Amino acid sequence: MVEIIRKKRDGISLTKDEIEKVISGLVSGEIPDYQMAAWLMAVYFQGMTDEETAILTDAILHSGTRINLSSIQGIIVDKHSTGGVGDKTTMILAPLIAAAGVPVAKMSGRGLGHTGGTIDKLESIAGFSVDLTVDEFISNIRSHGIAISGQNEHIVPADKKLYALRDVTATVHNHALITSSIMSKKLACGADAIVIDLKLGSGAFVATLEEARHLGQLMINTARRMHRKVRVIISNMDQPLGYNIGNALEVKEAVRTLQGKGPVDLMELCLSLGAHMLILAEKADSVDEAHSTLQELIDNGSAIEKFKEFVLSQKGDVHMIDQVDLLPKSAYAKEVLSSWTGYVQRIDTLEVGRASMMLGAGRATKESTLDMGAGIVLNKKVNDYVQQGELIATLYADDRSRLDRVSGIFNKTYNIGSSQVEEIPMIIEVME
Ligand code: URA
Repeated sequence: MVEIIRKKRDGISLTKDEIEKVISGLVSGEIPDYQMAAWLMAVYFQGMTDEETAILTDAILHSGTRINLSSIQGIIVDKHSTGGVGDKTTMILAPLIAAAGVPVAKMSGRGLGHTGGTIDKLESIAGFSVDLTVDEFISNIRSHGIAISGQNEHIVPADKKLYALRDVTATVHNHALITSSIMSKKLACGADAIVIDLKLGSGAFVATLEEARHLGQLMINTARRMHRKVRVIISNMDQPLGYNIGNALEVKEAVRTLQGKGPVDLMELCLSLGAHMLILAEKADSVDEAHSTLQELIDNGSAIEKFKEFVLSQKGDVHMIDQVDLLPKSAYAKEVLSSWTGYVQRIDTLEVGRASMMLGAGRATKESTLDMGAGIVLNKKVNDYVQQGELIATLYADDRSRLDRVSGIFNKTYNIGSSQVEEIPMIIEVME
């Protein structure tokens, strides 16, 4: 392992055999975390060629069982986000698409870096099981048209371990690591078609359009090698999505959105991603047609009913969905008031994500336990007018000292000026 780390550190490409040794040693426990962490940092700085990325994806994919969904009728779709702040789209989209009659087979992750993860969010619902066996996964898709599982010892176990290590070693932002992590999960789950929500902006792992296109192409190439239909939607992550950030807080906002009462930006993103999912599943011919189908499923209550069915099917307490006030709440709350008067011109979304982590919604170490009620509810978004002394956000945490620390710096995440700014569209580009 020392030799493999040294080679990568010095910018030399690794062979198939070397990459496979790293992944099998990781899964068997033969390679200790400190060597894996050093290898990840070497990859982070030196990168990987497209060939190495493909080999790494394959090695992670084959670290566990691949789910065979060929017994399920219809084109099965999956969706994945590269990671953002306040990104609760999976909890909305998966039941919405399933309600449209398209089976959804999804493997999600936990929080990563400053971004939240669907699996942590779903675990804020009491009893909810994210650790499905292959049989449970297939049977839920067959009976309910939807299943969401976390990586586990059966399915992509290598990603589970790499993901947890990347999270706490500041090695998330690397295209080869992001691509292999996402695509191995997508390929292991057996979906026929994949929509990638590639986030771009201050709250994303990708900061420029050029970088986004490079990462998007890498993911498209990987999916095509495995004969999957794929679309990459580059979407705006220059401000948090919706208003709520933090595990239970995001479940609440997802439920409101499924009931047709969601924020405009979140709704727009869900309808757009959902439209591409329906088109790939051959259930709609155009984005407009798909939008109206999805809107109708929200308006007639089918989407929220499917979400409740999904929660029940994975042993979650559905009373918490009927009465979202039953979801976990933090013991303390603190209001952040604006120091200035004017228009919100920018929200430093990376810092908002970090603030949410510091409040207890994310992990500082692999062993950290989450405060499910912790997080932030924004009261102002870009181009809103705010008066000095007016509420810009409310912070929640179980630990009063964390609350004091974050509230002392939170005001600096907002830039307030005398005029409104030009808004970046939610959907920046569609790659296929
Ligand atoms: N989501 C993943 O599953 N992996 C990454 O590396 C980033 C986002």
